[in-house]
Amino acid sequence: MIQAPKGTKDVLPQDSYLWQWIEQEMRDIAAKAGYREIRTPVFEHTELFLRGVGDTTDIVQKEMYTFEDKGKRSITLKPEGTAGVVRAVIENRLYADTLPVKAYYLNCPIFRYENPQSGRLREHHQFGMEFFGSQSPSADAELIIILLTLLKRLGLKNLVVHMNSNGCEKCRPNYHEALRAYLKPNENKLCDVCKTRIDRNPLRVLDCKVDADKPEVKNAPVMLEYLCEECDEHFHSLKAILDQMEVPYTIDTRIVRGLDYYTKTVFEITMQTEGRELALCGGGRYDNLVSELDGPKIPAVGFGLGTERIMIEMQNQNIVPEAPAVIDVFVCSLQNQDRQEAFRLSQSLRTAGFKADSDHMNRSLKAQFKYADKVGSRHVVIVGGDEETRGAVAVRNMQTKEQTEVTKDNLIQFLIEKGN
Ligand code: HAM
Repeated sequence: MIQAPKGTKDVLPQDSYLWQWIEQEMRDIAAKAGYREIRTPVFEHTELFLRGVGDTTDIVQKEMYTFEDKGKRSITLKPEGTAGVVRAVIENRLYADTLPVKAYYLNCPIFRYENPQSGRLREHHQFGMEFFGSQSPSADAELIIILLTLLKRLGLKNLVVHMNSNGCEKCRPNYHEALRAYLKPNENKLCDVCKTRIDRNPLRVLDCKVDADKPEVKNAPVMLEYLCEECDEHFHSLKAILDQMEVPYTIDTRIVRGLDYYTKTVFEITMQTEGRELALCGGGRYDNLVSELDGPKIPAVGFGLGTERIMIEMQNQNIVPEAPAVIDVFVCSLQNQDRQEAFRLSQSLRTAGFKADSDHMNRSLKAQFKYADKVGSRHVVIVGGDEETRGAVAVRNMQTKEQTEVTKDNLIQFLIEKGN
């Protein structure tokens, strides 16, 4: 039997309602803040991610799904959502209209060749929001507040916002020097990839999945102590806005994020539990990415939220909402000759806005009842017998078992009044 590739997950019919519910909340919260949806291709030219995400990151060095297409182009399945959006903003000159440009993507498939385990998939889905055109810390605060509001609306509790600053091109070189000086003496304790990173991009050692937790790395100098005046001021202003809005957060100097494009603010939201837990979402400011990808100098900030991780937490916290009924009204046929009429009635119930169905399996009346119960029908309509000769049907309430004769002309009104 052919199985799904390792690290992928099917969304089955019995579970898709949860995706749809979460998507509806995401759409709603994004629209209320003036963000519109953007959809970009699932694959892009590999170069976009080499330049955008950074060629010393774990994502680029170890995790990308890259292949040559029949035209001999190097193509990569999206390993994250931001670079594609930035490419689309530049290519379509979205910035030439009014700024800011506020865009979101909904359950965009993301591919990373990771070691599959709980919360780490090879294909996962992200809800992301990207805000182009503003340097103001109020844009960073807006995104953090949107995230918290969304997660709370989904019923999640004990959320912790971890924030840090990654500095900018002015202050980061000094920090890199300090980091190199600290890491060099312990070089031989690091993985082979990190040995090469010390010179090229020492920040990457701090979030390497192999090395990050080693004591030689844990006690490394922190960026916050090296911020220039502008970055320091930005971080202070962001904290002041969050304080004023009574949004709790913790400063976490170990958040460096796994992508190279971040400048200034970086953040992640986790659940407050013992030990080091997986982030539900992560994001930050990337003021240089648009220009690095050959666009104009436009600051930006955004986040990505892993939908599968939210679902794991909803299951852990026992807050998954109940599945809605598959069918509101099931139209049974008493005898074989009544099937055509049952089919016709179910169609007109659909037109009237009900989730309605009739039997396609040649089942007995008893078996039709059993099926109606299984798909959650509150009412069953029975076509045939004496009622049929009177232009009527029997309507059975599946909970109370109460049965009422209703003329076909009054059926829709009757079901509406009964709250179906
Ligand atoms: P990221 O932190 O790499 O950021 O991913 C965002 C979220 O995607 C994570 O917090 C996590 O919930 C989920 N995620 C990541 N990898 C996996 C995986 N292997 N399996 C399941 N879920 C996963 C980004 O991708 C940035 N593009 C976010 C961003 C947008 N920054 C600015 N704008």
